[in-house]
Amino acid sequence: MAQFTLPKNSQYTEGKAWPKPSGKNVTAFRIYRWNPDDGAKPRIDTYYVDRDDCGPMVLDALIWIKNKVDSTLTFRRSCREGICGSCAMNIMGQNTLACTLGIDECNGDTVKIYPLPHMPVLKDLVPDLTNFFAQHAAVEPWLHTETPQPEKEWRQSPEERSKLDGLYECILCACCSTSCPSYWWNGDKFLGPAALLQAYRWLIDSRDESTGERLDALHDPFKLYRCHTIMNCTNACPKGLNPAKAIAEIKKMMVERVV
Ligand code: SF4
Ligand code: SF4
Ligand code: FES
Repeated sequence: MAQFTLPKNSQYTEGKAWPKPSGKNVTAFRIYRWNPDDGAKPRIDTYYVDRDDCGPMVLDALIWIKNKVDSTLTFRRSCREGICGSCAMNIMGQNTLACTLGIDECNGDTVKIYPLPHMPVLKDLVPDLTNFFAQHAAVEPWLHTETPQPEKEWRQSPEERSKLDGLYECILCACCSTSCPSYWWNGDKFLGPAALLQAYRWLIDSRDESTGERLDALHDPFKLYRCHTIMNCTNACPKGLNPAKAIAEIKKMMVERVV
């Protein structure tokens, strides 16, 4: 799997090493800690987790630490089964979901955990996703229609519906966008792979009647064309989706409409 460079601004000091439990099956976790409000520099704290008392996933370990060692450790989570996208973080250099990554899958004696790269940090492992979600909203992720509303439903053939496979499953975890170098440097203007995958999901929906307007809105040197097909996004997606291919398909639609 691809390894991602951590942000330059994540220079940190050595933090606290918390007490080691006496069990035989103990794993060390080195975790990024920062509270922008307390004026201190970011630090790395070391925790020891008794694996015989803890579930198998990295998220289980974080919850174990929060409940039993340090209640100030801050992270997002909700579903615990790879559906909500809220537990995305950088684990062993890879953007992924803490709830679907087994502790045993983290090769090495120590599990290293940081927030998603190149995002403003609200606290510890919680990035500020305001811009990320604003970009999702900007692609207007809903059906645009002009013909009168049908009495029952907007119909699709099975073939038309199958074009949405590999797109609708996106859980908006931001693992892809925060692994993309173009997004790191131009995240205010480049929409990034997650928003563009959603843009494509609506562009190829057979029921949508705004294809031209949607393409017009993306025809901009930054919003779409900052993608240089580096493919980090596709390598990072914990749901196995392919945002790089979706972006390439949008670029193809742009070319085809002018020839
Ligand atoms: S393929 Fe495009 S969107 Fe994906 S990581 Fe590369 S530059 Fe970013
Ligand atoms: S495409 Fe994959 S990595 Fe990107 S936001 Fe969606 S689920 Fe997450
Ligand atoms: S807690 Fe929902 S995806 Fe991990």
